[in-house]
Amino acid sequence: MSAEPKKLFIKTYGCQMNVYDSDKMSDILAPLGYEQSDIPDDADLVILNTCHIREKAAEKVYSELGRIRPIKEDRLRKGKPALVAVAGCVAQAEGEEMVRRAPVVDLVFGPQTYHNLPALLERVAKNGSGVVETEFPAEDKFAHLEAPSAARTIARGVTAFLTIQEGCDKFCSFCVVPYTRGAEFSRSVEQITTEARKLAASGVREVTLLGQNVNAYHGIGPDGGSWSLGRLLNHLSEIDGIARLRYTTSHPRDMDEELISAHRENPKVMPYLHLPVQSGSDRILKAMNRQHTAQFYFDMVDRIRAARDDIALSCDFIVGFPGETDADFEATMDLIRHVNYAQAFSFKYSPRPGTPGADLGDQVPEEVKSERLYRLQALLREQQIAFNKHCVGLELPVLLEKPGRFEGQLVGRSPYLQPVHLDAEITQVGEIVTAAIVSVGANSLSAHIVSN
Ligand code: SAH
Ligand code: SF4
Ligand code: F3S
Repeated sequence: MSAEPKKLFIKTYGCQMNVYDSDKMSDILAPLGYEQSDIPDDADLVILNTCHIREKAAEKVYSELGRIRPIKEDRLRKGKPALVAVAGCVAQAEGEEMVRRAPVVDLVFGPQTYHNLPALLERVAKNGSGVVETEFPAEDKFAHLEAPSAARTIARGVTAFLTIQEGCDKFCSFCVVPYTRGAEFSRSVEQITTEARKLAASGVREVTLLGQNVNAYHGIGPDGGSWSLGRLLNHLSEIDGIARLRYTTSHPRDMDEELISAHRENPKVMPYLHLPVQSGSDRILKAMNRQHTAQFYFDMVDRIRAARDDIALSCDFIVGFPGETDADFEATMDLIRHVNYAQAFSFKYSPRPGTPGADLGDQVPEEVKSERLYRLQALLREQQIAFNKHCVGLELPVLLEKPGRFEGQLVGRSPYLQPVHLDAEITQVGEIVTAAIVSVGANSLSAHIVSN
């Protein structure tokens, strides 16, 4: 199919699944003649793929829309009308409200509807702006998504995301995800394998399996039974060309023996695990509806480390959940000292309308949240630096991903997800080399190649 070339600008906020979704949107629009642009100014279609997880994330979208309005008006004056669409989790949560608050928006569509983008754009063309589509359709969205062409995959590089699970049934009391992404859904092993094979055939060496609750994966296998994530990882590791597998994000409750065994037995499953705990206080964990205690988490970490002793752990924390006392916060600090993380993300609690947490009394004052976050991040930073420093002197396999900052330099990733800078030829992108780590920077390692 050929059509007159049009420009598409997509801005992506939030989690890795949004990155995956944005790529899918541009794949869907490519046959309609849309080519990607890096700036909104020359775009015929602007899509903001949004995140609703914290208040600031949603506010950012409205500020961006404020910046896009004069661009759209200017284009209209020049006779080059542009469409503005909002996708993702803010779109899902706000729906009609979005059009009311930001009339610049022509189309609002949720994460479960983007496979219908061509039809939605037609509706805008026919009915005018203000089209809102936030239903959760009954059909399998993924069955309507084409695998990208080899050229598009190659342009995206040697690592790729692959959504295997979407939505969440956990209903942590602070979290919007079960409302914006809907109920937990697992794609079939066959669909996932087909997509992974296509990625591998286009040169992808590392695949990160995505899900809001990825280790709750229970897709239908070729034998008609339900497969766990551990089994899926082993299956995908047999695909020619795939050298590394990762997955994110996991819930402590769903770490089962098959998954832990995959870390023990399958060298393609990378020794890195993002396992959010949010808090170290049982009282707060209960109020958050996390469905586990701090001790449960410690025991899980012990089991995982017994299976793979070099595994690097990463985590998410929320400080200042309603009712969090100094003692609760200290319990979180103790948990961090006990576990010792290679990396972590931490946030001040942000009340989200419609979630149970937002209606709790005893909200923690902003300055207390700030002070706690500062202390928590200082400790996590110390641990990250210590982890990076312990890598100096080690020889690690590094997947060479892309050009570095300087001529003759490439950036790759260690098994522990650290960026590694080293001297190498551009033709080596996609290779896994053994690299001796010589020094650590703020967030990355420097190395030289020992053997190819
Ligand atoms: N599915 C993942 C989390 C997805 S959201 C999991 O179960 O862990 C990513 C992170 O954002 C969460 O782990 C949490 O730390 C943070 N987060 C979610 N809702 C939040 C809120 N209301 N305020 C502050 N941080 C929040
Ligand atoms: Fe949100 Fe909890 Fe589900 Fe993670 S497990 S997506 S934090 S509700
Ligand atoms: Fe944000 Fe939605 Fe992802 S709220 S973190 S974009 S699932």
